[in-house]
Amino acid sequence: MIYLAPVQGITDRIYRNLFPLYFKGVDIAIAPFISSVKKMKPENNLLREFYPDKNTGIPTIPQIMSSNPDDFTRLANALYDIGCGTVNWNLGCPFRMVVKKGRGAGMLCYPDRIESFLEKTMPAIKPKISIKLRIGLTYPAEVLELIPIFNRFELEELIIHPRTGEQMYEGKVDLDIFEQCLNLSKHRVVYNGDIDSLEKLEMLTKRFASVDRWMIGRGLIGNPFLAEKIKFNTEKPYNEKIKIIRAFHDQLFTEYSKILSGPSHITNKMKEIWTYMGSFFENGDKIRKRINKTHHRDNYVDIVNKIFHEAQIVQT
Ligand SMILES: Cc1cc2nc3c(=O)[nH]c(=O)nc-3n(C[C@H](O)[C@H](O)[C@H](O)COP(=O)(O)O)c2cc1C
Repeated sequence: MIYLAPVQGITDRIYRNLFPLYFKGVDIAIAPFISSVKKMKPENNLLREFYPDKNTGIPTIPQIMSSNPDDFTRLANALYDIGCGTVNWNLGCPFRMVVKKGRGAGMLCYPDRIESFLEKTMPAIKPKISIKLRIGLTYPAEVLELIPIFNRFELEELIIHPRTGEQMYEGKVDLDIFEQCLNLSKHRVVYNGDIDSLEKLEMLTKRFASVDRWMIGRGLIGNPFLAEKIKFNTEKPYNEKIKIIRAFHDQLFTEYSKILSGPSHITNKMKEIWTYMGSFFENGDKIRKRINKTHHRDNYVDIVNKIFHEAQIVQT
């Protein structure tokens, strides 16, 4: 099974709804995190994002960022009431402000806090719970203390990105620690980190024969045909792929234009997408630079037309 990773600013509801209209092979997505709040009104905007009639694309599990069991439970149960059977707990976000508050990866070095969070939450929560985590905040081995704690609870699965919080998104993934987690965990484990080709996945499959769920973020946003290639080992001609990416891009642009007002909001949104989507093109860096220079809609549309036109010519 292939999971689309949560990437804040990119894999939102619009992206997840449009993606399967153009690309095959992704089975499920975890949504970018939402934070639990102290007081929650029933008509909360956060919840609205997860109404089933608004999530018609990749089946999606919401993700909650919280270190407070009561707030987490309230939000998780509200999500259950609108139809979400599982929620995911974020124990991986490495951003300074999050870590400073002892949330996300900032909680990984406090096994006692994680244990008491789960002790309070598990009996009170209606949906199933899965956890997405890194292997530590500072040291990779921090996770080895956590797995025996997780083993005591009925969790849906663990999604492990084998980097520390301090590594952010760079440096090597620690496959040895991942292997130790796999051996220690009684729960199903999903692998996440740096999968960007069929060959990379094959290497991982060989080493971790018991894993059959793979989460992909940047690799899939950069090459949305990757899941199709992995699952069916088929590949469309380059020109056809460019046409499909163009159609996907245009529909994203149309949908975001409906909700983003102000001349630079839409271009800023599209620039974020190009940060990753640029990798699809041979001259990705140059393309990103050209896109980043645009500041309003018409100028953006003009440049994008040129980029896609040139991409077609390169191959013909
Ligand atoms: C810009 C950005 C935003 C992210 N937002 C989230 C998030 O909201 N929740 C989460 O669990 N992980 C988040 N991640 C981490 C990814 O889900 C994933 O774990 C990480 O990128 C490694 O996988 P990859 O190498 O396949 O991209 C984010 C990553 C990036 C680069």
